[in-house]
Amino acid sequence: MNKVRHISQDKHEHQSLNANSDVAKSLQTLLDKTYACYLITHNYHFNVTGENFYTIHTLLEDQYNSLFTAIDEIGERARTLGEPVQILSGKYLEEVSEASKRSLNPKNMSPCQAMLKDLIIFNTECIEACQSTKSIAAEYGDDETEDLAIGRIRAHEKMIWMLRSSVSP
Ligand SMILES: [Fe+2]
Repeated sequence: MNKVRHISQDKHEHQSLNANSDVAKSLQTLLDKTYACYLITHNYHFNVTGENFYTIHTLLEDQYNSLFTAIDEIGERARTLGEPVQILSGKYLEEVSEASKRSLNPKNMSPCQAMLKDLIIFNTECIEACQSTKSIAAEYGDDETEDLAIGRIRAHEKMIWMLRSSVSP
């Protein structure tokens, strides 16, 4: 009887370790995407120009501050699950750098419009990463991570709404 309980306990602990590691891996991707979104938003806050300069400059300040807070929350959730966290891999830094170069000299639209459209793409990619984290967390019954992912989806949807409403028709 003791042996059976012992095996079952081991199995449970093993499953729990896998769960933490799988959920944390998806949190790492979400962290990378959110960091990339933070960097590009801050970059465009600096570089935006045009007649709506101050409105967009201020909107982007609100958004990069909110993204920075989220980065901490996502990284600390992965650490709570016992997994290490890495800040932004090289692949994402290149994406940010390429996008910001493109938006400073866009074809057929103003730099401000190009930046807003780019930010919608970066935020949409964050939502996709959140949805993946949400599914993996739900699969393992990790309600707290699922809740975090749902909150992040809500935040990105709101950012996209504000960005979209600022794009010229
Ligand atoms: Fe600023």
